Amino acid sequence: MKNNELNDRRLQATPRGIGVMCNFYAEKAENATVWDVEGNEYIDFAAGIAVLNTGHRHPKVISAIEKQLHAFTHTAYQIVPYEGYVALAERLNERVPIDGPAKTAFFSTGAEAVENAVKIARAYTRRPGLITFGGGFHGRTFMTMALTGKVAPYKLGFGPFPGSVYHAQYPNALHGVSTAESLKSLERIFKADIAPDQVAAIILEPVQGEGGFNVAPADFMLVTMPKRYDQDPANKTIVDALKAQKKDPSGPYVWITYAAVQSLATALDRSGSKEPLALVKDLKAHGANTVIGPLNWDEKGDLKGFEFGVFKWHTDGSSSVAK
Ligand SMILES: Cc1ncc(COP(=O)(O)O)c(C=O)c1O
Repeated sequence: MKNNELNDRRLQATPRGIGVMCNFYAEKAENATVWDVEGNEYIDFAAGIAVLNTGHRHPKVISAIEKQLHAFTHTAYQIVPYEGYVALAERLNERVPIDGPAKTAFFSTGAEAVENAVKIARAYTRRPGLITFGGGFHGRTFMTMALTGKVAPYKLGFGPFPGSVYHAQYPNALHGVSTAESLKSLERIFKADIAPDQVAAIILEPVQGEGGFNVAPADFMLVTMPKRYDQDPANKTIVDALKAQKKDPSGPYVWITYAAVQSLATALDRSGSKEPLALVKDLKAHGANTVIGPLNWDEKGDLKGFEFGVFKWHTDGSSSVAK
């Protein structure tokens, strides 16, 4: 079977709305390598749009799937529950950077998770408003399309969308939007659109992808926001979580936010200051390192870069750093 033949079949059998980027068809994959149906070999930098941290066919993943297939395939957890769901929730609860008890619910897709987060935030706070950011991507369902801050191609022709959603400016040095300007745009929303006490949640990507691979500056994520929002008792848990010191998760997690939270939470405690410059000095003095490698900060306190390892997996599930 040739790539061209499969492409002709795809165009006949599936709608154009399912946009496809590559013109070759995967036949098999191993770790970071993919082979197409004609035997061509590719390095998979896409990794399922950056969700396949383990690489393809990680031995532990294969063995867990095999074990599950020999046990049962589907019971619908809400009808017949099983230990795996509870055990995974327990492991995640241990590792999230939240001080105090945590609980986890699982959903099938990212969009479904965001939809449910909105339901939980609205039901808990009894407030309707949602603030999100230009350039953000949150999914393809109606609420997540409303939250998404990019009209073309995600929202074109699909409105109207659910209401009470407002977009602030995401800080982005490349486009000349500073943290101060971003916060000004939030204040504009509070003045023109909705009172702060009517906002159920502020939803943002700490690292935007669709918006152009923007890393939110450290002072926006971890200094200015808590400073401004810790005055509202409703945000106490968030602020506490940022200050909480928890053990780094072990393993190959490329979780930039978590790493930044860890480093900055430590620096906040150590320096006793929330000023970006004081934090940067402290981080530099202590050579901040995280599970993903060294973090670099510029003189304004913005996260400039980070390094992470490429792991080679062994059949027993252990890993070593691959050069
Ligand atoms: C930040 C973010 N939120 C939500 C989604 C939606 O996830 P899904 O495609 O699984 O619905 C994505 C998908 O790329 C995403 O990057």
